[in-house]
Parts: sequence; C-alpha cells; structure tokens
Amino acid sequence: MAEENKTTPVLPNDNVDRRQFFAKLGLGSLSIAAAGTAAFAYQFLSPNVLYEPSPIVNAGNPDRYPLDSVTLDVNTGIYLIHSQEGYFALSAVCTHLGCLTAWKPELGIIACPCHGSKFTRYGVKIEGPAPRPLPWKRVWLNDDGDLLVDRSTDVPPLQRDSFLRV
Ligand code: FES
Repeated sequence: MAEENKTTPVLPNDNVDRRQFFAKLGLGSLSIAAAGTAAFAYQFLSPNVLYEPSPIVNAGNPDRYPLDSVTLDVNTGIYLIHSQEGYFALSAVCTHLGCLTAWKPELGIIACPCHGSKFTRYGVKIEGPAPRPLPWKRVWLNDDGDLLVDRSTDVPPLQRDSFLRV
C-alpha cells in the first residue's frame, strides 16, 4: 500500500499572500485610525458657534395693519401697532418672568396669562407683578417700503412718543 501524503501542499506564493494580507489589514487599520483622528480634529478646530436668527424682523407692508390695530406675531414675540399717531412695535414678552402676552381687543389691553400683569397698548403697566413696561422696539421702513423691527434695540423711554408715520 502506498503511503499517503497527509500534509497540504505548500504553494509557492502562500507566505507572500499571508504577508500581503496582514500588510493590507495593517494599512486598513491605520487608515481608519487616521480618518477618526481627522474627523475629531475637524470637529475640535471648527468654531463652536450657535447661529441665532437675525433680530431684524420684516413685518411686511404697512397696509397689512389697519388703523387702531394691535397685531401679535407669535413667532417673533412682537406687537406691531398702528395707532392714530403712527406705527410702533412692542415686545410681547412680559417683563415679569418672560411669558408671551396676548392682546385682548374686548378690553383694549395687553394681558399676561401667567400672573395677571396688564399693559396698555403703549406697553405701560396697568397692574400686576411686571416690574417694567413692555419695551418699545425700533421700527423703520426699508427701501421696498416694508416695516422692519429690530428686536435687539429698545427705544429709550424718553423717545417713546416717536411714532413712524408712513
Ligand atoms: S410672567 Fe407675566 S405676570 Fe408673570
């Protein structure tokens, strides 16, 4: 009986293939590590800035606001008021604890639903715990004739009789 050869035949390129395999595995690992490092470095070096919407609000054409109207924009927290004297804007955020106030046309006042502060349509406090009147915001017309309101700029108290006339 002939002796059987039980060992697997060794191919001439077997060692080279294994070496290439481990070399590629090492390169792949290094590539993954390098990509992770690059991603971390990019995140570390990019500015950590919170982008806020512009404080300038385009309230549209003045014709949108009938005479003697008080219009609340809940998205911007601004009242646009068209009175006999002209246009002006008020912050709708209560000066007590920051609740959004609401215009009550049946009473002709601005009321805060949280703790009961009440204001005139000019922002003057009538009653309640609010420590200050509702601040006036700067209003002007842009070149297209739209009303712009700057939510970041309060009108100084002594200038609160300066209405925008269109
Ligand atoms: S938050 Fe308006 S009265 Fe308190």
